[in-house]
Amino acid sequence: MPNLLEIKNATVYRGIHEVFSNLSLALPQGCNTAILGPNGAGKSTLLKLLARDLYPVQREDSYVRLFGQERWDVWELRAHFGIVSHELQQQYLSTTRGVNVILSGYYSSVDLPWHQHPSEEDRDRAQQVMRTLGISGLSTRIFGEMSTGEQRRFLLGRALVNNPDTLVLDEPTSGLDIHACFQYLDTIRGLMHKGKTVILVTHHIHEIPPEIEQIVLMKNGRILAHEKKEQLLTDERLSQLFDTPVKLLQHNGFYQALPGTA
Ligand SMILES: Nc1ncnc2c1ncn2[C@@H]1O[C@H](COP(=O)(O)OP(=O)(O)OP(=O)(O)O)[C@@H](O)[C@H]1O
Ligand SMILES: [Mg+2]
Repeated sequence: MPNLLEIKNATVYRGIHEVFSNLSLALPQGCNTAILGPNGAGKSTLLKLLARDLYPVQREDSYVRLFGQERWDVWELRAHFGIVSHELQQQYLSTTRGVNVILSGYYSSVDLPWHQHPSEEDRDRAQQVMRTLGISGLSTRIFGEMSTGEQRRFLLGRALVNNPDTLVLDEPTSGLDIHACFQYLDTIRGLMHKGKTVILVTHHIHEIPPEIEQIVLMKNGRILAHEKKEQLLTDERLSQLFDTPVKLLQHNGFYQALPGTA
C-alpha cells in the first residue's frame, strides 16, 4: 500500500525564504498523526505541500507523492483530503452565508462561485453535515457574524462535505473556548472512529486525542523525529523541542504539558 504522503529531498521556498532544504518524510495511510514544533518550525508549510498549495523546487531526485502519485487533479484530491486552517478561515468574506461555506467545499473554492449551482443532492448532503456538526441553526448567518468556534465548525463542514478519507487540521482549536474545543475534539475523535485519518498540527498537547498514533517533531525546517506517540511524548523530547523544561502528565490517554524544572 503506498504511503499517504511521501516527501523526498524537498527544498521549499516561501518568498525568498528557504523553509525546507532536502526534507524527507513518509506518512503511512490510515495512521493518525500529530505534528508538533515551535512557531516557525515549518508545520503549516508541510501541510501546504500536502495540500498542493506549495511545490518543492523541481529536481530529479525530489518529489511529493500522495497515495503514491505525483500528479493530481484538484477534483480527485477533494475526495481524499479535507483541510481546515486558520488561513482558510481568514480568506472567507465576512458576508458569506454559513451554508455557502459548506457548499464551497464541493468546488474547493473560497465562497460559492456565482456560476455554480449545487444539485439538490449536494444541498441535502450539506444540510446533513450541518446537522451532524450542530450548526443547522446558523446556516443563513453571515460568516463575519459568527464566533471563531462557529466559523471553525463551518470550515470542518466544508472539509467533510466531500466525505474525504483524510482530514488535515492546522491548529483547529486555536481561539476556541473549553466547551467548543472539547466539542470539536469529540467530533474529530468520532470521525477517527468512523475510519477517517487525521493529520493534526497543534500547540496544545492536551488536545492530542488518544487515537493519535504517531508524532512528527519539527524544528527549524527539519524533521527531528517521527515515531510512535509513546516514544516522543516524553518530558525530555518536548523539553528539547521547545527549548524549555516541560513536565508531561498523562490521564486516560490524554497528555498535559506543565512547566518543568531546569
Ligand atoms: N508567506 C511567507 N513568506 C515568507 N516566509 C514565510 C511565509 N510564511 C511562512 N514563512 C516562513 O516560513 C517558516 C515556516 O513557517 P510556517 O508557517 O510553516 O511555521 P509553523 O511551524 O506553522 O509556525 P506556527 O506554529 O507559528 O504556525 C517561518 O520561518 C516563516 O517565517
Ligand atoms: Mg502554522
